[in-house]
Formats: sequence, structure tokens, C-alpha cells
Amino acid sequence: MDYDIKDIGLREKGRNRMGWAEQEMPVLRAIKKRFKKEKPLAGIRLSACLHVTSETANLMETLKAGGADLVLCASNPLSTQDDIAATLVADHQIATFAIKGEDNKRYYQHIESALYHNPIITMDDGADLVSAIHSSKKEFAVIGGTEETTTGVVRLKSMADKEVLKFPVISVNDADTKYLFDNRYGTGQSTLDGILRATNRLVAGSVFVVAGYGWCGRGLARRASGMGASVIVTEIDAVKGIEAVMDGYRVMPMEEAAPLGDFFVTVTGNTKVIRKEHFEAMKDGAIVCNSGHFNTEIDIAALEKMAKKKRVVRDFVEEYTLSGGQRINLLGEGRLINLASAEGHPAAVMDMSFANQALSAEYLVKEAKGLQRKVYPVPKQIDTVIAKLKLQAMGFGIDKMNKEQERYMASWNIGT
Ligand code: ADE
Repeated sequence: MDYDIKDIGLREKGRNRMGWAEQEMPVLRAIKKRFKKEKPLAGIRLSACLHVTSETANLMETLKAGGADLVLCASNPLSTQDDIAATLVADHQIATFAIKGEDNKRYYQHIESALYHNPIITMDDGADLVSAIHSSKKEFAVIGGTEETTTGVVRLKSMADKEVLKFPVISVNDADTKYLFDNRYGTGQSTLDGILRATNRLVAGSVFVVAGYGWCGRGLARRASGMGASVIVTEIDAVKGIEAVMDGYRVMPMEEAAPLGDFFVTVTGNTKVIRKEHFEAMKDGAIVCNSGHFNTEIDIAALEKMAKKKRVVRDFVEEYTLSGGQRINLLGEGRLINLASAEGHPAAVMDMSFANQALSAEYLVKEAKGLQRKVYPVPKQIDTVIAKLKLQAMGFGIDKMNKEQERYMASWNIGT
């Protein structure tokens, strides 16, 4: 088996951390148990391009239990947990190509290695694997793919609109049991975790600027506010702006927020959201980071150009001194800070995200033939099953309609 990881000697640490995550992943455990018996992915070559974390390792084990023939590569140069890569290779014989801190060249070589597997199903986080397939001269036998994140779905929908997408892709991101929990609570907590591990700065009493009020921004604003920060939201969408105001935050353009903020976090999916004129206006010691998928949201090239001096002051913190003397601290090279300096979303939310991944892969094996070259939602019944299993595992019950209530609700559907 071919692989490229940092150090196989890290396997024991990785094994322990993988087990720690598994304890919080009851839905995935239930799927793994069924997959072991039913083998719905028997013989299916599956290439996955995901953040190589303890949660992803549990997904890989589940897919393998279902009979999949797997290769895994990193979906970001800074998000790999090297101990997890070691346990995947050494304990689970899963071909893994991922090293934390790999340069761009190695990152794309690793994607090539995942494609060399000649996948029948792709599993992406950010659509880099699907993009590589589409720009390759080789022909692939892919029947379908799954996509984990908002940015990936945006890229794939644009390909589908231009009619260049070569196979159907299931948008795992858009399942209720994914974005409502992973994007909101997962990003909210793990982004703060990343910022705190990198800086150990006090959030209470600070001014915390959140750029983008999608599900990730909402979660982040709520957690920062809960820790005592005064939160400012910047937006380009008026409706989201109103929501942020009514949720209790100040809303203003980045230009006005720049001189006020102690922390700045981008979660927009867009490009150059924080740029030259904003850096110029910032306070000495401002912390700037990103939790969106790509490292495009902060104009790092402009910061590099403006800075008189640059030095690493802590792990994951680069201090740029501007000509006016103020110091701007950029975290994690502008890459996803929740995965760069912390461990990504907690297992309890990845449980649902990855349950969607596993069940969507099973769905593709059964149904891909009938699908077109489009982006499809996760089937409702999959979302519902996952929600029920999760709520049950958390020890909560819900009501069930009685016959009278069913008849009452059905009466509204007459003629529709
Ligand atoms: N994306 C965000 N957090 C993650 C995690 N813990 N594992 C895999 N992908 C993630």
C-alpha cells in the first residue's frame, strides 16, 4: 500500500484520539455496525479529500466497514493531524496522503495520488478533488461524488450551471443535520478554540468583528458574545444584516469596523474581505484570521507589501509591523484557523456531518445511474433518520402525531 504521511511512529497517539472522537459519534457507530453486516460499498473504489482529523478517521473506518476500497488525501495543507494519518495507515491500512504543513506542490501531488486510485465515488471538502478530475486529461469512471462544505457546493453548482460537471454530486453541506449544527455550532466553537490556542488573548471585553453572517458567522458571533465580547458583524446581504442587528449585534461596513476591532474573523467564502485600507486603520495588536474554506478572504499579499517587518511570535501567529508602527497579527497564514491551530469541529457535530457522507455514498451506489450531472440535496429520509438517531442517542424524545392530528394536518393538503 502506497502512502505519504509525516511519521508512522505517531500511530498510538492517533489511535487514542480516534477512539476519543468515536465516543461522541453514536450515529456513525450505528451506521458502521450496519455497514459491517450489509457491505453496501463492497468493491467500491472511493477517493476522499477531507481534513484528516480524528473524526474523519472514524468516517474512513465506517466506509471501510461497508466494503469500500479507500484512499484519503488532505483537503487543506494545514489541517492534517499527523498522528491520525499514522493510525489510518498503520492500524487501518487506509492509504493516506497528508502531511500537516505540506507545501502547495505536495498538496496537489497528494490529490493526484487519490486520483491514481481511479475512484468510482469521490468525497470532497472544498471540491479540489472534483476540480482535479475536471482539469485532468485522463478519463475517470466516477458515478458520483459527495461534497462537505459551502464553498465546495458553490464551486460545483457553478460547474453544473455551465453544464461542465461530469457526474452527479450530493451536497452534504445542505442537509439540515449538517449545516445547522456543523456550520453553526461546530464553526462557532472550533474557531474560538483555534484563536484561543494560537493567542491566549482574553475575549471578554474585546471587540470581535465577524465578517459574514451565514451559518458559520452566526455560530461564531454567538459564541464570542457568550464569552463577553462586543460583536460587530459585517455583511453584503441586507437581510442578513437585519438578522444580525436583531440578534443583538452592531452591523457596519468593514471600513468602520477596522479601527474598532481587537479580533477579526472572516467567514464569507469571498475574496479580499480584509484588505489594505482595513489593515491601515486597525489598532496596534489586532488579531486577524479566517475560518472560511480558502485562504483568499484576507489580502495577505497586500499585508506582506505594506509591512516593514514580519516575524513569527508564537506558533500560528505572524506579526506584521506596518509603517505607522502598528502590529497586525495574522493567524495560521490566513487558512482555516479552527483546523490550523485547533482540531476542527468537535466529534459530536461531525457525527451528523459524516453520517450524511456515509449514507450519501451508499445512496450513490444504489441510485447514481438515475441521476443527472447536477448537484443534488441529501435525500430527506437520510436527513430524518440521522436526526432521529442523534436525538435518541442524546437521550431526548419528541412527540408523535396521533391519528386525529394526522387527519387535521392532511386536511390542509387537499387540492395541493
Ligand atoms: N471540518 C471542520 N471540522 C472538521 C473535523 N473535525 N473533521 C473533519 N472535517 C472538519
